[in-house]
Amino acid sequence: MATIRLGDVAPNFTAESSEGTIHFHEWLGDSWGILFSHPADYTPVCTTELGTVAKYSEEFKKRNVKVVALSVDGLESHKGWIKDINETQNTTVNFPIIADEDKKVSELYDMIHPNADSNLTVRSVFIIDPDKKVKLMITYPASTGRNFDELLRVIDSLQLTAYHKVATPANWQSGDDCVVSPSIATADIPSHFSKGFKEIKPYLRMTPQPDLK
Ligand code: BEZ
Repeated sequence: MATIRLGDVAPNFTAESSEGTIHFHEWLGDSWGILFSHPADYTPVCTTELGTVAKYSEEFKKRNVKVVALSVDGLESHKGWIKDINETQNTTVNFPIIADEDKKVSELYDMIHPNADSNLTVRSVFIIDPDKKVKLMITYPASTGRNFDELLRVIDSLQLTAYHKVATPANWQSGDDCVVSPSIATADIPSHFSKGFKEIKPYLRMTPQPDLK
């Protein structure tokens, strides 16, 4: 297992899932991707997480993001559990869940942290851009369900900063002012940002979110 770092190409793999065989890079195509692991099927926190992801499908679609989940449980387990998720979370799971029984993908992505649990995956999240580069990695413990609003917020920031010379400040939400990239000299800001800017310090310049009308 090689260490994965931000900016690396997301390791490719072929795996069985609840929606058939996935050749990961081919499956991603030109989309952004979220690959996330959960400890086990038929567990309460995971049930709420996968239900939440299903309910957010329009939000992911709007952002051109494909989502795939993973645990070390088998296909039959996934298929039975999906019925429970749909029933209890009042939704329809419409994304694949990888059945990583041989732990091939979990090991490739270092999703098993032996000092937390020697057999089960932790709650790993990888956000991958259309060039297949890893843009975010977060690891949550089994006892803490993820905040999927935060993942949408990060995707909004990643998609904005991929095309505009801005960064997003603490607690930024889409629509808030952005930080002008330090690579732009203050004298050059007007030629990049037509909506103006505010210089709070020479290194801290704010501008309205550039892609909004
Ligand atoms: C859960 O999804 O509820 C869970 C899974 C593993 C350990 C603790 C909680």
